[in-house]
Amino acid sequence: MGKLDGKVAIITGAAQGMGASHAQRFIEEGAKVVITDLNEGGGRRLADELGENALFLQHDVTSPADWRRVVHEAEETFGPVTVLVNNAGVLGPISETVEFAEEEYLKVCAINQHSQFYGMKAVIPSMRKAGGGAIVNISSTAGLVSIVGAPNIAYVGSKFASRGMTKHAAVQYGPDNIRVNSVHPGYIKTPMMAAATDESGGGIAAQVPLRRMSEPEEVSSLVLFLACEGSSYISGMEHVIDGGLTAQ
Ligand SMILES: NC(=O)c1ccc[n+]([C@@H]2O[C@H](COP(=O)([O-])OP(=O)(O)OC[C@H]3O[C@@H](n4cnc5c(N)ncnc54)[C@H](O)[C@@H]3O)[C@@H](O)[C@H]2O)c1
Repeated sequence: MGKLDGKVAIITGAAQGMGASHAQRFIEEGAKVVITDLNEGGGRRLADELGENALFLQHDVTSPADWRRVVHEAEETFGPVTVLVNNAGVLGPISETVEFAEEEYLKVCAINQHSQFYGMKAVIPSMRKAGGGAIVNISSTAGLVSIVGAPNIAYVGSKFASRGMTKHAAVQYGPDNIRVNSVHPGYIKTPMMAAATDESGGGIAAQVPLRRMSEPEEVSSLVLFLACEGSSYISGMEHVIDGGLTAQ
């Protein structure tokens, strides 16, 4: 028995990095997974590798119309959606607030924050049809504190917003048996952090009590837990996975 047998999941930004790792783990645990991303080549390659329980759909998470199409195609292919992982995100440029361009601010917020609202809005009716569901919104340690090295004000603001919207949706849709949680990773080895190593930036590892960055698969274990029945009474909470970074 897989932990996600019978579940239908949408994972955004899943062509690479943590999203790709979550998709692989979910398939191993018996889910049917809709992998979405702007990156068509990477997304299709991954879906081919993962087999018949994976479907790739090209998707811009900042487009509400795209969201409606993705949920419709997911339902047509696999049935009502029971898990949503709002994972797609960008850092945006490294910039001080007084020099940060307004259009860049709006772009980062659209991808990291507005997308999570569009995703929840599009998917909740499908979850209601299924009798419930689990939503995992990927925030960051930058959604808890302004960590040293946070790229810009929009990244921190959008990740705090993800945490707040998570609580609002959890309260509103608890009676529909829909659980909503946020995940707050620290330093994870993905293409987003390509320039970072345990040694870079004066030693990223040295900032972390566990003295290393995390592999994406370690975050997948947490996301899997929040998506499956093992976390059946956990909702509206932030789940930090940062090797102790924000405990300091
Ligand atoms: N890597 C880290 O250390 C770290 C730490 C904390 C939080 N996070 C968060 O985790 C999530 C995943 O990050 P990652 O490190 O795997 O990043 P990544 O850059 O490796 O992957 C992100 C994916 O999102 C996709 N994407 C970007 N804009 C999109 C859009 N408009 N529509 C659809 N897809 C889009 C990209 O094509 C890419 O495949 C992000 O929300 C990120 O902010 C990452």
